[in-house]
Amino acid sequence: MSLLPFNRIKPPVAEPAAPQRPCAWRVGLCLPGLGADPPVAMLSAMFPAVTFRGLDTPWPERAAQTFDLLIVGLDAADPAGIDRLTARLSTCVGRIEVLVVMRDADVELTRRLIHQGAADVLPAPVTDTALAIALERIFCRLDTGRAQRRSGEIITLLKAGGGVGATSLAVQTAVRLAANPGSGGVCVADLDLQMGAAALYLDIPDPVTLAQVLAAGGAVEEMSFASALKAHRSGVSVLAAPNELMPVESLNPALVDGLTAALRRDFEITLVDPPTVWTAWTNRLLRQSQRILLVTRLSVPHVHLVRRQLHMLSAQRLDDVPVTLICNQVEAESASGLSLKAAQQAIGRPFDLVIPEDRRLMHQAIDQGVSLASVRRGSKIEAAIGRLAEMLAPTGVMAAVGMER
Ligand SMILES: Nc1ncnc2c1ncn2[C@@H]1O[C@H](COP(=O)(O)OP(=O)(O)OP(=O)(O)O)[C@@H](O)[C@H]1O
Ligand SMILES: [Mg+2]
Repeated sequence: MSLLPFNRIKPPVAEPAAPQRPCAWRVGLCLPGLGADPPVAMLSAMFPAVTFRGLDTPWPERAAQTFDLLIVGLDAADPAGIDRLTARLSTCVGRIEVLVVMRDADVELTRRLIHQGAADVLPAPVTDTALAIALERIFCRLDTGRAQRRSGEIITLLKAGGGVGATSLAVQTAVRLAANPGSGGVCVADLDLQMGAAALYLDIPDPVTLAQVLAAGGAVEEMSFASALKAHRSGVSVLAAPNELMPVESLNPALVDGLTAALRRDFEITLVDPPTVWTAWTNRLLRQSQRILLVTRLSVPHVHLVRRQLHMLSAQRLDDVPVTLICNQVEAESASGLSLKAAQQAIGRPFDLVIPEDRRLMHQAIDQGVSLASVRRGSKIEAAIGRLAEMLAPTGVMAAVGMER
């Protein structure tokens, strides 16, 4: 019986297909500033995958964010118009491209507008060729940006001792992230080769395990995890720890490189839960991570262990990987008498997030393999994990669901 659930990614075919614009960009032409006859038909014929819409307004105030690119007119002799455009550009930076067609253009104003974020400034009257070349350049830039965003993030959990709640936070945060409408795929990869329990925490029957991945042989980076992994009902894909104990040395840095490359290709966010030990491959995993979540509890021994982990990150020259410091299971009345303030002082940096203790709710969610909200809505711990998901979600996703970061 084959235990290999993976389809290999096919090698590139010899005859490459004709290049295609990957995204259907939406372009708004603000007609009042653009003269009598903007070439909408010509542009639609030239860029068939792009949607061009003529708008009867100099600027589509509320609808602006429904466009990827706005083409607007400007009269260089109209100071009030220049001020309005400057203010609008500042609200668009990084979200909407703006191509300005300017009457009586001068070099100084052109440079100023570009500096303020305009994608390009063309002097009016603009020829069809000049417009097409400028648009092609902007679309290429948008295409590249979208392609780069498709390279997902590896977020690795690091513990200040066993039982701090790392696996619980990984699965609950993943479920929360997967609920975002714009989510491009969320995965939990349990690399805790001996004690991993992420698939149990999500109650995934018969999950694909790391042991199966390793037994499959061949290049891990060629495996299609997006199609092979089983998903929780929330949509979170899970790469489970082996069913039987495996030696920690079953993984190595090269395998970690392949695995992280494949997971970044297949998922927008992968939360990785490694074993507590430091080895060459866990070191490589941290190096390959875009973020580390360092989870601790509020006690004197845990504060010491956080310091030890932060020192280790520094000693391993991993201190350029951003660390989000989380204090989990914080009781209303600290049993040890240690205050958050004292703990932060001892650690030398503030906690980025404090997650309250709610043993009963967390146990119920884990036992049923569901989200905290499915057990009980509106708890403090659910709100805190929501904040963690907001910190980790790619900017575009949070914008899509209208959440503040
Ligand atoms: N905020 C919380 N409030 C109450 N209980 C929690 C909280 N977070 C986690 N727990 C509980 O703590 C226990 C340990 O959690 P978990 O297994 O996630 O920790 P871990 O750090 O992954 O441990 P290990 O070192 O074994 O991998 C579980 O029983 C879980 O229900
Ligand atoms: Mg764990």
